[in-house]
Amino acid sequence: ATLRELGNLHGIPLYKSFVEGWPQVEAFQARPDDLLISTYPKSGTTWLSEILDMIYQDGDVEKCRRDAIFNRVPFLEMKAPQIPSGVEQLEKTPSPRLVKTHLPVHLLPSSFWDKNCKVIYMARNPKDVVISYYYFYQMAKMHPDPGTLAEFLETFMAGKVAYGSWYEHVQGWWEKKHEKQLLYLFYEDMKKDPRQEVQKILRFLGKEVAEGTVERILHHTSFQEMKKNPAANYETMPTTLMDHSLSPFLRKGISGDWKNHFTVAQNERFDQHYQKHMAGSDLSFQMEA
Ligand code: A3P
Repeated sequence: ATLRELGNLHGIPLYKSFVEGWPQVEAFQARPDDLLISTYPKSGTTWLSEILDMIYQDGDVEKCRRDAIFNRVPFLEMKAPQIPSGVEQLEKTPSPRLVKTHLPVHLLPSSFWDKNCKVIYMARNPKDVVISYYYFYQMAKMHPDPGTLAEFLETFMAGKVAYGSWYEHVQGWWEKKHEKQLLYLFYEDMKKDPRQEVQKILRFLGKEVAEGTVERILHHTSFQEMKKNPAANYETMPTTLMDHSLSPFLRKGISGDWKNHFTVAQNERFDQHYQKHMAGSDLSFQMEA
């Protein structure tokens, strides 16, 4: 039971093993050509990671199948018994590296700012995030029991889930977008027009690729392709960590699935909470795409 209890990282609820590994993460030495992929959990991290690896491999699908996504794009603050930590994995990764994090902006190791690393942040509307997180809490074994959806909605709104408040996360990173090296993307835009978003990423990275390469990237990173790709769908994770029979990692991959889960009353309560916590921010979300 204790394994499934969340610890506390400077006020943020987080897996206890990650909290234990924190000194290594805080002291992490970024390299100037590191690209940081930053997201709140369940916002399209794996999708964005696969897109970026495809760009880095110049559209070579076979190279992108070389290993599981969680090894191709190491997870900075990851620490679990018996496997190399994110920091250990990164130290062995040749440059240019792709680095994944879910840390709130104020906890990002300072080395990323000192080295002026590029960052791509992806945000997703909180109603779809909370539903996706609810299923993830069930299938990924490091989480406490989420209880009923009604209970989990309260836990989420109170910021008592792993990585804390979604509201603070998306706004904290949004405030950094004025810094030239940060590209802020939305899951809903990627759903609506992936070609346009991939072009945005290419411009941000200062990369040019052949038109055929863009086609291959879009095809290889579609939900259908990723769902059946063992290097992208997390199926190779030990079943002690993830149980895909409870919910697949690539579950639905749509915008607006919250409508199949929220009651009218839950939706009203969520909207009120959302408005209160987003007031004063110029950040806004499409709740469907
Ligand atoms: P759902 O649970 O709503 O299906 P993360 O990678 O940050 O954990 O996010 C996981 C969510 O992104 C899941 O959402 C997953 O299905 C979705 N996702 C992953 N790859 C995708 C793709 N290629 N297209 C659309 N959604 C994708």
